[in-house]
Amino acid sequence: MDKIVKIRNLFFGYDEKMVLEDINLDIHRGDYLGIVGPNGSAKSTLLKSILGLLKPQRGSIEIFGRSIKDFKEWGRIGYVSQKATSFNSSFPATVEEVVSANLFPKIGLFKSIKKEHKERVFETLKVVGMENYRRRLIGNLSGGQQQKVFIAKTLISEPEIIFLDEPTVGIDVESQGEFYDLLERFNKDMNITIVMVSHDIGVITEKVSRIACMGDKKLLVHNKCCRVPFSEALTRFYGDRMNMLVHRH
Ligand SMILES: Nc1ncnc2c1ncn2[C@@H]1O[C@H](COP(=O)(O)OP(=O)(O)OP(=O)(O)O)[C@@H](O)[C@H]1O
Ligand SMILES: [Mg+2]
Repeated sequence: MDKIVKIRNLFFGYDEKMVLEDINLDIHRGDYLGIVGPNGSAKSTLLKSILGLLKPQRGSIEIFGRSIKDFKEWGRIGYVSQKATSFNSSFPATVEEVVSANLFPKIGLFKSIKKEHKERVFETLKVVGMENYRRRLIGNLSGGQQQKVFIAKTLISEPEIIFLDEPTVGIDVESQGEFYDLLERFNKDMNITIVMVSHDIGVITEKVSRIACMGDKKLLVHNKCCRVPFSEALTRFYGDRMNMLVHRH
């Protein structure tokens, strides 16, 4: 199977304090990997390391067969960061402009946005139910609405792998359902690889093909087909708090 991400013996610490120790992980094309773990277990740190935003102290990270240090094909990767929404109301861009920014690698920065590009933006906003807000200033939208625009922005560049860090925080339950259905379609129909950090254990255990549990600076991967139930593996990391979260098949 086509390996998209390969992590070997990764160590990362902020200043002297290590938060990731000896992490090994392979992500294959078509995977839908859920990453779970308590607050502060370095889930976001791991994503940022994979994306080259943080430099590990030791170990190697390859993406699409290249060391992250030399990687340049950023159009192949989508990233929705944790709390991506921090615009204030004076931020001078419309929803349409924010989303079309990710079309520029394809259309060239100095060419005008053509009708077909506007249609692409419209169709993508429609996917997240935000097409009627396209002329509004991004800063004037609610947090959940801004998050949906960010997801549209990520999707429009047609990435081969998408990293999402708690993407549904602040999104209402109905929209969350639609959003997870959407991710499932991307994964199953378009073979887009998905890596999602979430505290929503019920959804994670239902939707993903593999789960990475993080805690105590370590990472453990469980395949959905394996005999040890996810819930049992998760309990080791979450302790008693898992009781109210256990998902049964
Ligand atoms: N910029 C930073 N400088 C110093 N320490 C940091 C920094 N960012 C994160 N940390 C620390 O590193 C650890 C891991 O943080 P991280 O944000 O990766 O956790 P997380 O698993 O994503 O948590 P959450 O579920 O709350 O999002 C935490 O102890 C955090 O306090
Ligand atoms: Mg985080």
